[in-house]
Amino acid sequence: MYTSVADQTTDQLGGPLSVLVRQKRDHVKLNALIERLRGTTGEDQAGVLLDIYRLVFPHAFAEESVLWPVMRRVLPDGGELTLEVEREHQEVNELVTKLEGLDDGSPERADVLGRLTEVLDDDVRDEEDALFPRLQARVSRRELQVLGVLWELVRRVAPTRAHPVVARRPPGNVVAALPLSVLDRGRDAVDLAILSAPGNLVPVLHRVSSALAKASHAVELLPIMRTGEDPSTRSVAGTPPFPWGTAVLAIAAAGLIGAEALRAVRRNG
Ligand SMILES: [Fe+2]
Ligand SMILES: [Fe+2]
Repeated sequence: MYTSVADQTTDQLGGPLSVLVRQKRDHVKLNALIERLRGTTGEDQAGVLLDIYRLVFPHAFAEESVLWPVMRRVLPDGGELTLEVEREHQEVNELVTKLEGLDDGSPERADVLGRLTEVLDDDVRDEEDALFPRLQARVSRRELQVLGVLWELVRRVAPTRAHPVVARRPPGNVVAALPLSVLDRGRDAVDLAILSAPGNLVPVLHRVSSALAKASHAVELLPIMRTGEDPSTRSVAGTPPFPWGTAVLAIAAAGLIGAEALRAVRRNG
């Protein structure tokens, strides 16, 4: 019989460095953000969603590249257990990508947001009630602490946006980490600036953000970033071929528009 991570103290979970304590802390933050999300619209909703993305995507990315490979090694049914959470992560990536393509007034938005919060809740419950207590039974307190430090290191440099095409397993996701993280974190800075920028800058910043999004979605289609995946992770089989033309144009556009935005910021500042 296992005790949920939610019902254990910091000491029982392996102390402040333990990966289980760090996981639980992020899950509590996520619950608070989901509460804040309810009933928001427009700019307020965009701000809370940005906070959710910046918490959830690096968190899940570090799980997929550091924790799930260990689960597969130490648990006889680790493959099955991690596949289930990889499918949940994949659905979150697909739902956020869909949400980003919907206008503020779209009637579909409420359903997509509802399903997104449902899958995020399920993922937390699966990890806290099933996966982590079983990992805890198999590894030492010291190993939980080492995993905590490794997970934290990866989380701090991981991509911060939805990437539904990238593999949910190494080596694909590890290769994807650096280029996608640079593009995502640039886009985060631009999207944060949009929330407080003077009106005349907002359209320019939106163009920068959308060029960075296009560049990252083109980069994630590189075949090497899809290696290692279990094919049953994603609901839609197969992926489009790598669009070299779009990638080159999107990266060039991101650079040009970024330079234009910088000039505009200097003129206004
Ligand atoms: Fe988690
Ligand atoms: Fe997760």
